Amino acid sequence: MPLLNLEEAAKRFPNASFTTAVGNPALRAKLTEKAKQFGLVEHSLIHPTVIRSRHVRFGAGVVVCAGSTLTTDIEVGKGVQININCSVSHDCVLGDYATLAPGVHLCGNVHVGRGAYIGAGVVVKNGTPDRPLVIGPGTVVGAGACVTKSWEAGLTVVGVPAAILRQRSCNAT
Ligand SMILES: CC(C)(COP(=O)(O)OP(=O)(O)OC[C@H]1O[C@@H](n2cnc3c(N)ncnc32)[C@H](O)[C@@H]1OP(=O)(O)O)[C@@H](O)C(=O)NCCC(=O)NCCS
Repeated sequence: MPLLNLEEAAKRFPNASFTTAVGNPALRAKLTEKAKQFGLVEHSLIHPTVIRSRHVRFGAGVVVCAGSTLTTDIEVGKGVQININCSVSHDCVLGDYATLAPGVHLCGNVHVGRGAYIGAGVVVKNGTPDRPLVIGPGTVVGAGACVTKSWEAGLTVVGVPAAILRQRSCNAT
């Protein structure tokens, strides 16, 4: 398999499809937009072992890895990455370019903001239909945390129960 830059790839394989295999949400969004500018087309990868109901809506260019389960009435935005062995329960919404690292469990009625990063092994407690539990855009949840309440945008939170480590989120991976 040749190693090509985007310009060469677009020339050699016009209209080829691509997937951006990068965990960092901001970088993934940037690289995806760049690849689209060269005329390449986003492609989703959903592993055959993924269990999901027919009431799950996927945006373009999502990656859902082996062993993950998505139940019902779930919205998965474009460019979302769901790593191995995650569970996403009813009425969850994943904003564009959000990342779930391996082994994340989202209980029902959880809204993950655009570009948020949820670290390995995180558990997010359920919200309610009237009051979803919201993780703000760009917020990073450190590996192993248990999120028990909503958090605003641009934070880094860690621990059990999760508490603020930093006001502005940092590089999560
Ligand atoms: C939360 C996180 C983003 C912080 O990264 P960072 O800014 O580089 O933080 P540092 O390593 O400098 O640690 C700062 C402090 O937070 C603590 N800390 C870091 N990550 C933590 C975590 N997940 N839970 C609890 N405390 C944590 C450190 O022990 C340190 O505490 P100290 O100041 O008392 O020594 C990162 O540790 C993390 O958990 N990233 C997710 C990793 C992951 O899930 N990867 C999956 C790859 S597929």
